[in-house]
Amino acid sequence: MDSFGVTLQKPVKQRNSQGRETMKLTPMAPKCGVEISGVTLATCSDSEMDEIKQAIYEHGVAVFRNQEFSPEDHIRFGKRWGGIDVNNYFPLQEEYNEIAIVKKEADEQTNIGGAWHTDHSYDQIPAMGSVLVARELPPQGGDTLWAHMGAAYDALPDDIKEEIDGLEAFHTADHVYKADGIYAQTDMGKNLRGQDLKTGAVHPVVIRHPHTGRKMLYVNGGFTINFVGQSREESLPLLQKLLHAALTDDNQCRLQWKPGTIAIWDNRTTWHNAMNDYQGHRREMHRITLSGEALAA
Ligand code: SIN
Repeated sequence: MDSFGVTLQKPVKQRNSQGRETMKLTPMAPKCGVEISGVTLATCSDSEMDEIKQAIYEHGVAVFRNQEFSPEDHIRFGKRWGGIDVNNYFPLQEEYNEIAIVKKEADEQTNIGGAWHTDHSYDQIPAMGSVLVARELPPQGGDTLWAHMGAAYDALPDDIKEEIDGLEAFHTADHVYKADGIYAQTDMGKNLRGQDLKTGAVHPVVIRHPHTGRKMLYVNGGFTINFVGQSREESLPLLQKLLHAALTDDNQCRLQWKPGTIAIWDNRTTWHNAMNDYQGHRREMHRITLSGEALAA
């Protein structure tokens, strides 16, 4: 009974014939994101894993609540997708080098990933996805946003679809992480590694998702520099038009993190952006980046 004398219904957990809870998928927004309940990620079965993968390929990002997930579980789970791409720039967890630490101290101003981007698009074989686990959260804020690039492509006007058909773009991370790059000019620079690395990759501007076959817009504001055969200046008008058109309200979802929350996203299907609105508080997340495959139109 609650305090008003009304009997509250406990949520009924659905179970299959083996007595195992069955998964429930609830969309987070009309065109992006799904929350999945009724599964324990650390011990999920192969068939649950297949269902989770399919949901992520389609919805772009899946969110799981109330998970107990040790660093060992994180690594084991990552390996079930295939390989792990160790991030070259973020600090790594001391004992578990496959885990990159995405953290901002209470006295720091700049966060990691605080602009729309796609992880590792600067690699010729870019990471398939990322598994982000909340380890320490600010009292408020620090949400993460995702935008669905299949929905973004679908919504482009026909003349732009024609203009980008067959185009390729160059991606790099050098301007972001090098010794005089974007982060080096902030208080996050001292925490990062890899300032001497050179990166560069060319991908189609419109890719076919390797598993669903859906067309996805594959440029992003973080790492895409120019279209192949055009200078940065020549590329900017169309690139900016695409970056602007890709962000509509209805193709985005927003996650409010809580202790025990895990998000897994597909980097081919989505962009993401970490909000930096919790000044004076600490936030620490652990990320494993999942190996992918070469992308094709
Ligand atoms: C990132 O992976 O870009 C950071 C996401 C986050 O901290 O929410």
